[in-house]
Amino acid sequence: MSDKKKLYIRTYGCQMNVYDSERMAEALGADGYVETDTPDDADMILMNTCHIREKAAEKVYSELGRFKGLKAENPDLKIGVAGCVAQAEGEEIMRRQPMVDLVVGPQTYHRLPEMMEQVAKGEKALDTDFPEEDKFEHLPKLRRQKAKRNPTAFLTVQEGCDKFCAFCVVPYTRGAEVSRPVERILREARDLVERGVREITLLGQNVNAYHGAGPDGDWSLAKLIWALDEVDGLERIRFTTSHPNDMTDDLIEAHGTCKKLMPYLHLPVQSGSDKILKRMNRSHTAESYLRLIERIREARPDILISGDFIVGFPEEDDQDFEDTMNLIREVNYGQAYSFKYSSRPGTPAAERALVDDAAATDRLHRLQALLTEQQRAVQSAMVGQEVGVLFEKKGRFEGQMVGKSDHLHAVHVQSDAPVGALRRVKIVESRTNSLKGELLD
Ligand code: SAH
Ligand code: SF4
Ligand code: F3S
Repeated sequence: MSDKKKLYIRTYGCQMNVYDSERMAEALGADGYVETDTPDDADMILMNTCHIREKAAEKVYSELGRFKGLKAENPDLKIGVAGCVAQAEGEEIMRRQPMVDLVVGPQTYHRLPEMMEQVAKGEKALDTDFPEEDKFEHLPKLRRQKAKRNPTAFLTVQEGCDKFCAFCVVPYTRGAEVSRPVERILREARDLVERGVREITLLGQNVNAYHGAGPDGDWSLAKLIWALDEVDGLERIRFTTSHPNDMTDDLIEAHGTCKKLMPYLHLPVQSGSDKILKRMNRSHTAESYLRLIERIREARPDILISGDFIVGFPEEDDQDFEDTMNLIREVNYGQAYSFKYSSRPGTPAAERALVDDAAATDRLHRLQALLTEQQRAVQSAMVGQEVGVLFEKKGRFEGQMVGKSDHLHAVHVQSDAPVGALRRVKIVESRTNSLKGELLD
């Protein structure tokens, strides 16, 4: 039996939370914790939470309720809440669930080891500051840093948001927009590659607004991508999530000229109605978005476009919804996420009257049916094409590998190549949620 303390982390929300959970595990790893994949035998449970919609936030409380039993069995068990619910609700969490020992916001988790000392003394610990220092520079690092990694990794380059879309909590939970300096990102990227990473997805709530300090002034995201293009051993670059207003010319151009930059772009539009876009404070129109997509496709004709949609935003009527459906028809999305509007306390839209819930649900179903139809058609159109596939794991069948295509489709291939191999593959069949490919070389 090892005397190491066991840490169980559960992650909700966006990719940035996945990245943050890894960093928190490292920070607590330096403090003697090893990760476990079940809460049952854990000494510490950490929930990394999401506040984006009401359901996401409420789930945290119901999950915490389920951990009560574990705490009754093991009074030494520590329970922590991190992430965006922690930031938004702070002390309220401990009021609603007194067995919570620790609440830490997304900008202060580098202070976790000190907070754990407090908790070990039987005190409660709460930190939801927006500190001046860069948390990434202050994170305690594990010694076994050079441990092998999966072939794909996230790398946060920008955090926070200054856009203040009327429905969105992110500017409040993640704070103001901040870009990490170029050199630190490149250092982290090289380190990931040394540990076996072949594909890096650059993360930011507004990643294309990136403007980090470089050796010769501020760098754009495109410039950062070109620097990453030079990192030997790194084969693929992706980035997410972008705002239409920050799609600069150099970034569009990079999609046409940078071989390592993959032909996939997540570019949320939210609505196809100018009236609603204005009320959402999105500061782009349906037309400007469509022209943008046109220019991106001119630069990279095979690019797969992905999007986010909100239906039932206050004052959305049937015509506004039809405008959204028409925009979707014009764009032809290869991938999309869609949500019914959820009123969030503290956001400007929370003051406004909701649309009828049954109407919103009906619109969501119609919109999702159209998006699913488009996704299937885009996926089927891959049959006969040659793409790169980066093998991520073994498949269910003997000799089968599973990986992602350049366009981020899951592909099954018969191959004895190892995890981490990037192979040319011909797509031979489209199934419900994946493609089947055959090796070309
Ligand atoms: N930074 C990204 C999105 C962050 S949130 C961007 O600017 O696009 C991810 C998605 O959740 C959003 O694109 C939006 O579609 C959805 N979303 C955000 N707030 C929401 C709310 N209050 N109700 C329903 N969906 C919401
Ligand atoms: Fe939220 Fe809008 Fe910022 Fe995206 S751009 S994180 S939707 S406020
Ligand atoms: Fe959710 Fe926070 Fe990400 S609210 S979507 S975890 S930035």
